[in-house]
Amino acid sequence: MRRTHNCGELRQADIGKKVCMQGWVRFSRDHGGVEFIDLADAYGITQLVFDPEDITSGADKNSISESLRSFTRESAVSVDGIVRKRIEGTEDPKNRTGEVEVLITKAEVLNRSKAPPFELGDQKEGVLPGEEIRLRYRYLDLRRTEMIEALRFRHRFISAAREYLDKNGFVEVETPMLTKSTPEGARDFIVPSRVHPGTFYALPQSPQLFKQMLMMGSMDRYYQVARCFRDEDSRADRQPEFTQLDMEMSFVDMKDIQEMIEGLVVHIWKKIYNKKLKAPFRRISFDEAMNKYGSDKPDLRYGLPMVHITDIVKNAPYEIFQNVLSKGGAIVGLNVTSDLRMKDGEDSIGRNEIDRLIHFVKKSGLGGMTWMRATKDGLDSNIVKYFTPDVLSELKKEMDVKEGDLLLLLAGPKRNVLETGGLLRKKLAEDLGLTDPDDFLFAWLVDCPMFETDPASGKKDAFHHPFVMPTTPLDIENVGGASFDLILNGSELGSGSQRIHDPEVQRKIFKMLGLSDQKIETDFGFFLEALGYGAPPHGGIALGLDRVISILLHRETIRDVIAFPKNKKGQSLLDGSPQKVDDEKLEELQILSIAIDDINIEDIE
Ligand code: AMO
Repeated sequence: MRRTHNCGELRQADIGKKVCMQGWVRFSRDHGGVEFIDLADAYGITQLVFDPEDITSGADKNSISESLRSFTRESAVSVDGIVRKRIEGTEDPKNRTGEVEVLITKAEVLNRSKAPPFELGDQKEGVLPGEEIRLRYRYLDLRRTEMIEALRFRHRFISAAREYLDKNGFVEVETPMLTKSTPEGARDFIVPSRVHPGTFYALPQSPQLFKQMLMMGSMDRYYQVARCFRDEDSRADRQPEFTQLDMEMSFVDMKDIQEMIEGLVVHIWKKIYNKKLKAPFRRISFDEAMNKYGSDKPDLRYGLPMVHITDIVKNAPYEIFQNVLSKGGAIVGLNVTSDLRMKDGEDSIGRNEIDRLIHFVKKSGLGGMTWMRATKDGLDSNIVKYFTPDVLSELKKEMDVKEGDLLLLLAGPKRNVLETGGLLRKKLAEDLGLTDPDDFLFAWLVDCPMFETDPASGKKDAFHHPFVMPTTPLDIENVGGASFDLILNGSELGSGSQRIHDPEVQRKIFKMLGLSDQKIETDFGFFLEALGYGAPPHGGIALGLDRVISILLHRETIRDVIAFPKNKKGQSLLDGSPQKVDDEKLEELQILSIAIDDINIEDIE
C-alpha cells in the first residue's frame, strides 16, 4: 500500500516522518497564498499545508500547485509530505491529529468529485440537509463522522455478541429468505415464483419457525444476525427491513434464556464501555407495568407512577367522574411532587403548563384533566368542594401527598386512561428533565398474557406470537403466556418466550386464535408435523439490533444506524426502489400487468 498512515493517526511522535496520506478533501482554505486542506477518511481528519515559500527540497512547486487546483471538495486524493508541528496557537485540541500537519511534497488527484450536494464537515445545528437528501446521496452521508461512528459502533456491538455466543456454544446458522409466511403480526412481502406460476414465497418476518425447527434438528444453541422483513408503516423505530440478533436454545426454561441474555448484555457492556453492568435485571409484570406506568415498555429510570383512585372517589358527586364511572371507566392520579418541579425556587409547572398538559391529554382522547395542589391547608382546587374531608384525606394517603405536591387526575375508559397516563408520565419526565440519557436501565417485562384483544375488531390476537407456551389452563379470556420482553429506557429491545413443543397444545392455540382446521393444515401442517417427532422443550429471543444501537447512541431514529435504510414511505431514495417491472418480466411470472400509468396512484392511496 502506498498509504502510510490514515487521517486519524498522526501525533507529535510522528514529526519529521515522510508520509503518504490518501483520503477526501473536506475543506480547503487559502491564507495569503498558503493553502490549508482538511484531508478526511474513516479514521479522522489531518491538516495538509502547501506553502510555496516553504518548500522542501525535491518538491515540485508548480506541479503541486497544478494538482491542488483539482482538489475540489470530496475529491479522492493522494499526498506525500512531511509531518511537522503546527505553529504555536494554531493547534486544534478537539482533533486527535490537531497538534501536527503534513507539509505537502507531492499531490495527486485520484478521482475528482463533482460539487457535493451538501456540506460534509462537522455539522453545526441546521447545516445538515433534510433526510431525503442524505438518503438520496447516502454514500456521501456515510462519510460524515456521525455515520462512521454509528456503523463502527454497530460492528463492535455485533462482534462482542458473536464472541459471547461463540464462547457459550451457540452456532450461527442461516435460515431461508424465500419462505412461507411467519405470523409476527405484520403483512408479508411476497415474491412470485417463476417456476411455479401463481405461487409466492414470503420474505421472513423473523426466522421463528426455522429456529424452532433447528432445535427439533438437535442444533441445541442457535443464533443469527438475521434480516427480517415486515410490510408495515415505517416509524422512528421501525423499518420494513431490519436486523435481529436472533437466538434459540433447547432443554431450557424462561429463566435460563433470560440469564443467557443478561450474560450477553453484561459481556457487550464490558467490551464496549469497559463497565460492569448490574445483572440480574429488574423484572416487572405486565399488569404492574400497565397499571402503574401505562406502558408495556415503561421507562424505569424515574418514578411518577399512576395511582388508581377509582375506589376512593367513586361516591363523590363530581359529575365528570360520575359520568366516567357509570360507563365502567377508571380514575387514576399522578403525583408530581414538588421536588421534581421546583427549579431555583420556581415551579416549572405553573398555570400555563397545566393548560398545555390538559391539551396534551385531550389529544389522546380523554375529555380533560383535573388537578389539585397540596397547600399547607390541604388539597386545593376548584373541585375539592365535591370531595368530603375523609375522601381528601384518603386521597392524600394513597398518593403519598406532601405540601407543595401537584396531583394530576385522569378519568375515562380504563385502557385509554392507562395509555394516556403513560404518555403523560413520559411527557412530564421529558419536560422536567427526569432522565439521564447516559443511564441505561434494562428490565424484563414478565407474566405476559397469551392473547390480546384487538380494540377495533374485538378479535383475539396472540400477544407475542402463537408459538408461546401457555402457562395457565386454556381459557381464552385469561391465559398466561411464557413470553418476556427486554426493555430499555422506555423501548422494547426484544421479545422471547418458552415455546410450545407439544403439537396438540399448538393446534389448540391456533384454534383459539380462530384458525379453521383447513387453515391450520395449509399454513402450519408442516410445523405441527415436525413438533410430533420428539421436539425438545425449547425457547429463545430476538433482539432488535437497529433499535438497541440507536438507543445506545442516542440517535432519534433507527435510520441513523442503518447503512442503507428506507425512508418513511418505505422507499430507497438511493436506488429508486420499489420500481415498476417490465411487462416481459411480469409475463414470465404470469402476473397480470395493468396499465399502471393510467391509474392515479393518489386515488388508490
Ligand atoms: P418481535 O416481533 O417482538 O419478536 O421482534 C423482536 C424485536 O425486533 C425488533 N423489531 C423491529 N425493529 C425494527 N423495525 C421493525 N419493523 C421491527 N419489528 C420488530 C424489536 C423487537 O423487540 N420471533 C420473535 C422473537 C422470538 O420469539 O424469539 C420476534 O420476532 O426490537
